[in-house]
Amino acid sequence: MTDPVPDALDSPVPLVATTVTDVRREIEIAARLRRDGLAAEGRRARVALVPTMGALHDGHLALVERAAELADVVVVSIFVNPLQFNDPADLERYPRDLEGDLRILTGRGADIVFAPEVDELYPRGETSTRVTAGRVGSLFEGRSRPGHFDGVLTVVAKLINSVGPDSILFGEKDAQQVFLVSRMVEDLNMPVAVEVVDTVRDPDGLALSSRNRFLDAKERRAALTLSHLLEAAESASDRGIDAVLAAAQSAAMGEPLVAVDYLAVVHPDTFLPVDDDYTGKARVIVAARVGDTRLIDNAAIYLGR
Ligand code: PAF
Repeated sequence: MTDPVPDALDSPVPLVATTVTDVRREIEIAARLRRDGLAAEGRRARVALVPTMGALHDGHLALVERAAELADVVVVSIFVNPLQFNDPADLERYPRDLEGDLRILTGRGADIVFAPEVDELYPRGETSTRVTAGRVGSLFEGRSRPGHFDGVLTVVAKLINSVGPDSILFGEKDAQQVFLVSRMVEDLNMPVAVEVVDTVRDPDGLALSSRNRFLDAKERRAALTLSHLLEAAESASDRGIDAVLAAAQSAAMGEPLVAVDYLAVVHPDTFLPVDDDYTGKARVIVAARVGDTRLIDNAAIYLGR
């Protein structure tokens, strides 16, 4: 008996799998169906995974688009991971709309959506085995959200093991997450390539985020402080770290709806704050509360003197 042909391959609507067994099976079927077209190239079908927590926007679609360039089978996971939320209220209010997400993904190059329930990924409750994010995991986002990155790395490891992708894609907006996932993949010799896609912004500069939907009109305007602050930092970058921090801080002043949580300039290789006399590539990272909504953003700069 031959396997049924999944709708996903020729249909613009992605096929939904909710269990690890099913997603593996659907990937295998899809890879087999794509194999004939690849025979001439003498290679097997490549699989790309775009891990998400749903509430999809154009930033996620940019990841899916890049995944479709890299791979023959594109899997998007949609899973709001309880392990990475240290605040139950934040977990509770995280937007969930699988049908809406499927509509957004339709015709955009995703073949399979892996949307497990919590019990599927955590059948025994919280895992007793965790990936720990180390020192960088307890800084910046990790300081405000203890345990967050252990939860992220643990679920990303589980998703990699469930899907078996050749590449896994992340947005640059979550720069600390990108750094820590890349370290995990390297440290644990995971056979997957981490691909990073540029932050997608609204025309006025606000970085797209699933959390932007919580902003009212005033907060939406105030949230532009983050990208203005990064622009100010970039324009001061040839005057050294002190000038960068001063420019960024003054751009954040005078906006009562914005409370900056952290602002730092980190080294791209270590994600630790750069020394005062450092020159070279660096990244300015910022997190701020805008009303009740916590937003993050970052920009690559070149620190010169
Ligand atoms: O960036 C996210 O949406 C999440 O942290 C991720 C990578 C999907 C893990 O839950």
